[in-house]
Amino acid sequence: MSVILKNCLLIEGLSNILIEEGKIVDIKPSEQSETFGTVNETIDIKGNLVIPGVIDAHVHVRDLQQAYKEDWETASMAALAGGVTTIFDMPNTLPATINLKNLNIKRKAAEMSLVNYKFFIGATNSNQKDIEEILDKNAPDIAGIKVFLAGSVSNETVTDEDILKQVFELAKQYDKVVVIHTELQELLDKWQQRLPYNNILKHNAIRNRQCAIKGTELVLRLSEVIGNKIYIAHVSTFEEIELIKKYKCNNQVFCEVTPHHLLLNESILEKVGNIGKVNPPLRSEKDNAALWQAINNGIADTIGTDHAPHTIEEKQQEYEKAPSGFPGLETCLLLLLNEVNEGNLKLEKLIELTSNNPAKIFQLEKRGEIKVGNFADLSVIDLNKKWKINASAFRSKAKYSPFDGIEVKGKVMMTFVDGKILDVSKEVIYGTI
Ligand code: NCD
Ligand code: ZN
Ligand code: ZN
Repeated sequence: MSVILKNCLLIEGLSNILIEEGKIVDIKPSEQSETFGTVNETIDIKGNLVIPGVIDAHVHVRDLQQAYKEDWETASMAALAGGVTTIFDMPNTLPATINLKNLNIKRKAAEMSLVNYKFFIGATNSNQKDIEEILDKNAPDIAGIKVFLAGSVSNETVTDEDILKQVFELAKQYDKVVVIHTELQELLDKWQQRLPYNNILKHNAIRNRQCAIKGTELVLRLSEVIGNKIYIAHVSTFEEIELIKKYKCNNQVFCEVTPHHLLLNESILEKVGNIGKVNPPLRSEKDNAALWQAINNGIADTIGTDHAPHTIEEKQQEYEKAPSGFPGLETCLLLLLNEVNEGNLKLEKLIELTSNNPAKIFQLEKRGEIKVGNFADLSVIDLNKKWKINASAFRSKAKYSPFDGIEVKGKVMMTFVDGKILDVSKEVIYGTI
C-alpha cells in the first residue's frame, strides 16, 4: 500500500511525501511528483504545513479503575485531535504501574490506543526488584522510570534518599531515563502546617516554590554523582532553571516545560478556580518569562502536556478535595502554534521541543523527524486558521480547561499515525482541508 501526500509545506519547502507500509520512503519537491511512479492513493495537503507528530512524554491516560476520568480510547482520540502521535503514560494509575503484574494489566488496556505509546514504571520505597524484573526483559514499550518525590494525585512516592540513589543506579545500569516530579514531601508538609489556608488562590503559597526548587536541586546533585540520565518534569520556577543551567552538561540532564507553566500564572485562578489547580502550581509572571528564556536558550528540552484528566464534578469540589491537573492533549499544539504566529516561538524550535528532542531523549527509533526511513507520524497544520478553544468539544472525557475560550491562530487539520489517518469520526476530529 503506497500513499502520496501531495503539496505538504515542510520547513524545506513545498514537497510530496511517498509513504509505503507506514514509513516515509521518499520526499521530493512538489513539482517532481510524477517521478514517484504508480501509487494506490493520493491525498492533497493543499500547501498546509506538515510537521512531525507531537511526542508527548507526559500523559496520564488513567483507564483501569479510573476509566471514568479517561481511558485509552478517549485519551488517544484527544491526542489525535491535538496532533499528538505518541504518548508516554504515567504510572500513577489504579492499580499503579509498579510491578510486572500491573504493567501487564495496563498493557492489555492500552491495546485500545489509536496512537503510539510507551509506559513509565513507577518507583516506590520498596519496588527496586520489580523495576529490575521489568527492565531485565528489555521490552520496547518501557519509556523509563518515574519518581514522585511527593504526593500529587494518587501516586506512590520515593521519600528515602538511599532508595532514590538505588533507583538512579538501576536507571544507569539499564540506560533508562528517570523522570522526576521534584516537589519534596518533607517541605510540602512543612509549608502546609505553616500556611493553613484553604483556598485555591493560595495553592502556589501552600505548595511553596521551595518544595520544587529543593527537590530539583537534590536530584541534580545525586544524578551528577551517579552519572544517570534525569528528566525533570514540569519545571515551574526561575530558580530551577538556574539550577538546571548549572548542572546541564554531558547530556545527562533534561527538562520539560508544560504549556500551562509557560503561558499561565496564578493570576488566572481568580477566573478559573480549581480548574487551574495543578501540581506544581501555576506560579508568577517572572517564572513565565524565565521558562520562555529557557525555551529559547536551549535549557528546556521538551514540552510535555501533563494531560491529567479528572471529572468536572471532582474538580468542582472545595479546594482541598479537588484533585490537581487538567487535560492538555487538545490544547498544547494550538497554543504553541499561536505563539509561532505571535512571533514568540520559531517553528523549528516548536518541532525540536515537541518531537525531535523527546524522540532523542527517550531513544525512539524512526520517529520524531520527517525523513526517509522514519514512520509517517505527521500533523497537518493550517497556520492561518483562527480558532477558539472550546473545551466542551474535547475528545477527552475531561471537557474543561483553564485555556477554554482563548482565541488562537493555527489549527490541527489531520493527524497521521504510521501513515494512516485513523477512521474515528474522521470529519469531526481531523476536520477537512
Ligand atoms: C497529575 C495527575 O492528576 O495525575 N496532576 C497534576 O496536577 N499534575 C499528577 C502529576 O503529574 O503530578
Ligand atoms: Zn507531576
Ligand atoms: Zn503529571
